[in-house]
Amino acid sequence: MIKKIASNFIIQTRNTAYAFRILPTGQPEHLYYGPALYGEEEKPEKDDFEALAEKRLFEAGNMVTYSQDEKTVTLEDLRLELSGKGKGDIREPFVDVVFSDGSRTTDFVYREAKARKGIAEMPGLPNPHAERGEAEHLRLTFSDTNEELYLDVYYTAFLEADVIVRSAVLRNEGKKDVTVRRLLSTALDLDPGERKIVSFHGAWAREMHMDEMPIGKGKTVLESRIGYSGNRTNPFFMVADSEISETLGNVYGFNLMYSGNHYAAMETNAYGKLRVVNGINPEGFSWLLLPGESFSAPNSIMTFSDTGYRGVSRNMHRFIREHVTPRKWKNAVRPILLNSWEAAYFKINENKLLWLAEEARDAGVELFVMDDGWFKGRTGDNKALGDWEADPKKFPGGITRLSKKIHEKGIQFGIWIEPEMVNCDSDLYRAHPEWVMDIPGRTHSEGRNQRILDLANPVVTDYLIKTFTHILKSSQIDYVKWDMNRIMSDVYSKSLPPERQSEVMHRYMLGFYLLLDTLTKSFPDILFEGCASGGNRFDPGVLAYFPQIWASDDTDAIERAEIQTGYSYGYPMNCITSHVSGSPNHQTLRVTPLFTRFAVASFGVMGYECNFADLFKEDMKEIQEEIVLYKKWRDVMQLGDFYRGRSGNITEWTVVSKDRRRAVGMILQIRNHPNTQWETYRPSGLDPEKRYHIYNLKRDVDIREFGDLVNTASPIHIRQGGRLHDLAARFISMPGETVDLHVKGCVLMNGALHLPQAFSGTGYAEGVRFMPDFSARLYFMEADSDNLT
Ligand code: GLA
Repeated sequence: MIKKIASNFIIQTRNTAYAFRILPTGQPEHLYYGPALYGEEEKPEKDDFEALAEKRLFEAGNMVTYSQDEKTVTLEDLRLELSGKGKGDIREPFVDVVFSDGSRTTDFVYREAKARKGIAEMPGLPNPHAERGEAEHLRLTFSDTNEELYLDVYYTAFLEADVIVRSAVLRNEGKKDVTVRRLLSTALDLDPGERKIVSFHGAWAREMHMDEMPIGKGKTVLESRIGYSGNRTNPFFMVADSEISETLGNVYGFNLMYSGNHYAAMETNAYGKLRVVNGINPEGFSWLLLPGESFSAPNSIMTFSDTGYRGVSRNMHRFIREHVTPRKWKNAVRPILLNSWEAAYFKINENKLLWLAEEARDAGVELFVMDDGWFKGRTGDNKALGDWEADPKKFPGGITRLSKKIHEKGIQFGIWIEPEMVNCDSDLYRAHPEWVMDIPGRTHSEGRNQRILDLANPVVTDYLIKTFTHILKSSQIDYVKWDMNRIMSDVYSKSLPPERQSEVMHRYMLGFYLLLDTLTKSFPDILFEGCASGGNRFDPGVLAYFPQIWASDDTDAIERAEIQTGYSYGYPMNCITSHVSGSPNHQTLRVTPLFTRFAVASFGVMGYECNFADLFKEDMKEIQEEIVLYKKWRDVMQLGDFYRGRSGNITEWTVVSKDRRRAVGMILQIRNHPNTQWETYRPSGLDPEKRYHIYNLKRDVDIREFGDLVNTASPIHIRQGGRLHDLAARFISMPGETVDLHVKGCVLMNGALHLPQAFSGTGYAEGVRFMPDFSARLYFMEADSDNLT
């Protein structure tokens, strides 16, 4: 619902409302962002807005007044929807330009408003989508009082997702050039309050670690300067009440549909009011706007919840699932894949891959992915990137023959590519050194031995479109893993004049989106997965083209639990890919049970990344069983609603199907402290009135897991690890615990399932919960009337 009552505006989604008014001087004063205020048919009254507005009677001390006629308008302490520079507002500006006379002062005043059904699209940038009736938008137009510079500010309300998307377009309708120093996407001014920032940081292989920081005086910045959205600071963040929990408290959530340098600032002004802004990072950015041209800012996502973090996550999940994920994939369950990377790294060839693919198919895997190392001369990461032809020694029949043979085995086929990069030791670089980003005459700094192709140059983007269209057409390819493995340095485009060099990073993004848009539209049936050394470009911009992203190069289940919990605050589980890999793990050398690796991976889009040809029979048998299980539950795991329970030593997750008839829960324990044998599992999101059959997987414990404690029960002495030990294990095992109850949803959610006692230094009774370090359990719940078992 978007309504205008006199000079007041209200935008309402199902559970949230957003209000502002236009002051007589033309500035938009922010009034409210919080829980919904009106019923669908109800008419807001003018007095409601009056109550929310500041009652200004005189000019406060030591402030700039906007005009001599309206002395009470002091922009420094007004809550504003947008702000420029130079008229008294000394906080973070929304827009900053340099006019042709060198002046920087802008004075944007209101001209008109237009409300429409549907979304507002930003040209050349990733946009959300909505079906009829799901979204409506408002465009407010402002113009600068001195120059013919127009600013359109957009608000698109996604009614059911409780999300408002903001963006802005600057139009130069004058006769002189204007240099844009910043054009942000969101600005939200809030009343004083005790709040904190919740943000997500990391590095390679340890993405999305949550950080909480109280908001004090001054300014806090969350940003990326690496050229991409990055793993150092994800563009998703929250501003929450200081007293906040998973289910209680007010929280605002923000994200940016942009894959380049992002910027968010939280600034408390002298009057205790908080300004929150986000958009393209102004650092190192500027854009020359010629007469007649316009510049569009990326879409910024914002939501509000008065039910703690869970509410923000629910809204963000729904929004990304329904309105960002490409339509074709949003309700599609994704295939289980085996990726060759941790199985063989660069040492791949046709025979080896066919063998792996066969093993994968036998285990129930549906898609085989050939990772890095397939193109000519690619024996390590220092050469051949850019030469996208199969290595004739490794693949004598090219990928065309390989893809055919793999399909003949009854399994789909996918490839790894890294289109945006090149090694200097490659034919492409030798032929076109002018196509890479580097500064003529200066030594270039490399990352992973590679340089970045200049996507700010349309010739390069066009070349990549042609090259990859050809590759994807010439073989039977069902899936593409699109990687990007370094951060930007020595940023420079040889295709642009000196005065446009600060445009390069954004122009690169526009080239990148053109590439993604063209290829995903040309190959709508190919499943694309984003990747950037894992999660170095995990953002809603990429998700508008690729339905899933490789969340981290860290495949260790314990690390992944923390990483996936971090992502879950802002992203739904069906965009997070997660693989079961070998043990000891290749990033941490940690040894974890196969079932734990499966349990953690199963909460995302699950796949495998280990050498099936080398695994022991028992492990392959377990993998087969787990794949059968995952297939049975994957619609719930991938498309259901995800809930976080505890995190820390115990990670507790639940996912519930849309109709709330089926659910799966997990507890994962990091450290087993002795004599802490009482544990619970507490689901969320169930129907409180339904009765659920809740059960676990009955698993016997191998007696060897108890080490030489076996002797406390054995009549004869058994040497740990000896032959007798193995022999005994073949005939005797210890029955694990059983959970098999029919329980009302409200009992489980309000009270929790109390689990069987765990082994805890004493007690080897049958049915004991064997729960050493790094153990996990899954609990399955089916509403009583439609049990599938
Ligand atoms: C990156 C990716 C990995 C793998 C390698 C291949 O590190 O994140 O998954 O594809 O590149 O070089």
